[in-house]
Amino acid sequence: MRGKAGQSVDRAIDRQILELFRERGSVISGGELSRVLKVSRTAVWKHITGLRGQGYRIESLHASGYRLVESPDVLTSAAVTAGLSTDRLGHQVICLAGTGSTNLEAYRLADQGAPEGTLVLADAQNQGKGRLGRSWHSPPGVNLYCSLILRPSIPPVAAFQLTFLSAVAVARAIESEARLRPFIKWPNDILVNGKKTAGLLNEMSAEVDRVNFIVLGIGVNLNMRADQFPNDLRHPATSLFLETGETVNRLSFVRTLIETLDDLYDRYLRDGYDPVRKEWLERSGMVGLRVAVDGTTERLEGVVMGIDDSGALLVDQAGGTVARVLAGDVRIL
Ligand code: BTN
Repeated sequence: MRGKAGQSVDRAIDRQILELFRERGSVISGGELSRVLKVSRTAVWKHITGLRGQGYRIESLHASGYRLVESPDVLTSAAVTAGLSTDRLGHQVICLAGTGSTNLEAYRLADQGAPEGTLVLADAQNQGKGRLGRSWHSPPGVNLYCSLILRPSIPPVAAFQLTFLSAVAVARAIESEARLRPFIKWPNDILVNGKKTAGLLNEMSAEVDRVNFIVLGIGVNLNMRADQFPNDLRHPATSLFLETGETVNRLSFVRTLIETLDDLYDRYLRDGYDPVRKEWLERSGMVGLRVAVDGTTERLEGVVMGIDDSGALLVDQAGGTVARVLAGDVRIL
């Protein structure tokens, strides 16, 4: 029986092999793999066999070596992190086959001291959490459910800025992976062709004047089929597959998303919130639209003027009063 230490060495070698395939993009000889990884050729062969068992299609080319032909769409820590070019995020990735909620899991890990950038991913959730106490339908094998731990040195009142940052990152990732033009609807829904395809639920642990950590919870409907949506949805919903007719590779999507979040977070820490705010507004296109807002305490209608410095939606009601909406559901009229 192999112990934990043996398994993690095995995983590290698997990851290195995948990284080498990605870096070279061509055939690598068994001899070179054995030299770079400092293991015997027999060990290389065993790892290649192991990776094939995990669904990687690796060709053996007579007398020249191995070539990675196709990666499975399985979210493993080795596959997500292999060759990831990020500064702060995704160095530690925990992939779960199933969990209640990745947000709960990430929050628990952050509370125990998990470092900034730790990402928790699950194939399925059975208690996926949505905004305003709702649930997030999370069937296995089709979508992305993940939660990222951040530890920025900011006051709690600025935490909403990271919600906006994550909305911009998801919109960019959808654009690059599915060639669609998503629209951000305040506060944190991502719509494609008017239907919701992703949602964000960010949670925070804080003291009066400083954030301990923030968990960015991100759910994206990637490959869900029409019959997999629950019947009682409040708003029209869709998946990227339903909009394009093409399956999205979950692994590729999550890698793009982490790299995008890393870029945006780096810029945020250097240049502040303004660049995020500008891109959020460009991608939202809500300014000037007439909306109905079901707030937590009241319902109102009006024209969107923008967002203020605390992330509230500014709605110009008939008669010139501008309402600041801090939470609620927005419908574009
Ligand atoms: C919304 O209501 O729009 C927010 C949905 C957020 C869902 C994601 S899925 C990953 C993470 N874990 C959760 O339990 N919720 C978030």
